[in-house]
Amino acid sequence: MSVAETYAAPPVSEAALTADGEQCQLPIRKGTLGPDVIDITSLYSKTNHFTFDPGFTSTASCESKITFIDGDEGVLLYRGYPIDELAETGKFLESAYLLLNGELPTQDQFDDFSTRIAYHTMVHEQMSQFYKGFRRDAHPMAVMVGVVGALSAFYHDSTDIRDPEQREMASIRMIAKMPTIAAMAHKYSIGQPFVYPQNHLDYSANFLNMCFAVPCEPYKVDPVLSRAMDRIFILHADHEQNASTSTVRLAGSSGANPFACISAGIACLWGPAHGGANEAALTMLQQIGTVERIPEFIARAKDKNDPFRLMGFGHRVYKNYDPRAKIMQKTCHEVLEAVGHGDDPTLKVALELEHIALNDDYFIEKKLYPNIDFYSGITLRALGFPTEMFTVLFAIARTVGWIAQWKEMIEDPYQRIGRPRQLYTGAKQRSYVPISERV
Ligand code: CMC
Repeated sequence: MSVAETYAAPPVSEAALTADGEQCQLPIRKGTLGPDVIDITSLYSKTNHFTFDPGFTSTASCESKITFIDGDEGVLLYRGYPIDELAETGKFLESAYLLLNGELPTQDQFDDFSTRIAYHTMVHEQMSQFYKGFRRDAHPMAVMVGVVGALSAFYHDSTDIRDPEQREMASIRMIAKMPTIAAMAHKYSIGQPFVYPQNHLDYSANFLNMCFAVPCEPYKVDPVLSRAMDRIFILHADHEQNASTSTVRLAGSSGANPFACISAGIACLWGPAHGGANEAALTMLQQIGTVERIPEFIARAKDKNDPFRLMGFGHRVYKNYDPRAKIMQKTCHEVLEAVGHGDDPTLKVALELEHIALNDDYFIEKKLYPNIDFYSGITLRALGFPTEMFTVLFAIARTVGWIAQWKEMIEDPYQRIGRPRQLYTGAKQRSYVPISERV
């Protein structure tokens, strides 16, 4: 069977393409939802041409069954289930199981999965020595990239990607250990002792406990806050073929071990255009400061000569209200109430700014709506996290999506190494000139 015949999406019609007078027929494949794709895998052999699509604005990089986004309608589905239904009542580990296995767990499956995760929350004791090699003021994302990559140096028995049991063990270990590693990065940066996981707590409560408990006094996790944390993790768990997920897939396509691949995903997520926007949105809301100053900032956002943009507004894919933003707004209210900041001035600014922008022709015409980052910064700050930790929290949640996408790729029998081509515009071939003869 040729590679072109191995996709689940069947060819439904053909597209005709003429290149330099030569015509070729290309199959059009149909997925279950979303636009059909023109399958160009045979284009080069048929026409001697590549396609050119920097930024992948029109290119599907893989076939996937995990997550679907309809940006025009503002829909996000995990394995077919709407994000709002999952986040409203479900648990993060339930969504994790769903993303990894394709179906929601039964109670027995859920209990078994949660127990396996809980069993692996501790990290190798030697890893705490590893942290001491970092400066105290190191950015926690720098620590995450290093420590997660280093897991492959500690857990040799789960790096063989051809062995399904090792793949499974690596997946469980990473989902289990990521909160521990993140909490240790936080504790290290503020000079407090590491707090061991408490496996009687659920995933999110355990994480909050590791971040905020101290050995010298009792600490009880507020269930409203752990529920909010859990929901924030659900909202961030996967988002189709975004930059960091594509990075994980590309790294994994070479056969690199899963810990190294997830570390590559964390590195990509760190960028301000990806995981760093929630911090920028919070900074902007604080800069605006009062409701009275909003018109000034709206005018700046609309001014073509001013580089200022409303942070937390607009999205490459969503041309409608980001479905995650609605849930985040609700969660934000709940958290602020729970910590006694119900009248937080930043929230007042955010609500009014959203209201004004949603009724302004500029934002309506350009289809600019609040995205998930608009309310997440305020919420995470109220939960007690410093801004440097915001992207780390994103990484904990997205680890599940990265692993699900990595597994899907590795388990595809026709998977090949990812190897994009290029439009070369450099020097043509020329002869080497010895240094003594160069002018
Ligand atoms: N404020 C004001 N104007 C905007 C904004 C904004 N936030 N976003 C886009 N525009 C305008 C932009 O100036 C352009 O106008 P024109 O057509 O007149 O030149 C038009 O809308 C289209 O913008 P674009 O930059 O071509 O759109 P894009 O799809 O390339 O960019 C974006 C998407 C998210 C980078 C952009 O909307 C933006 O910079 N938003 C602010 C940053 C932000 O909130 N980022 C978080 C995204 S969600 C993260 C996630 O899902 O993981």
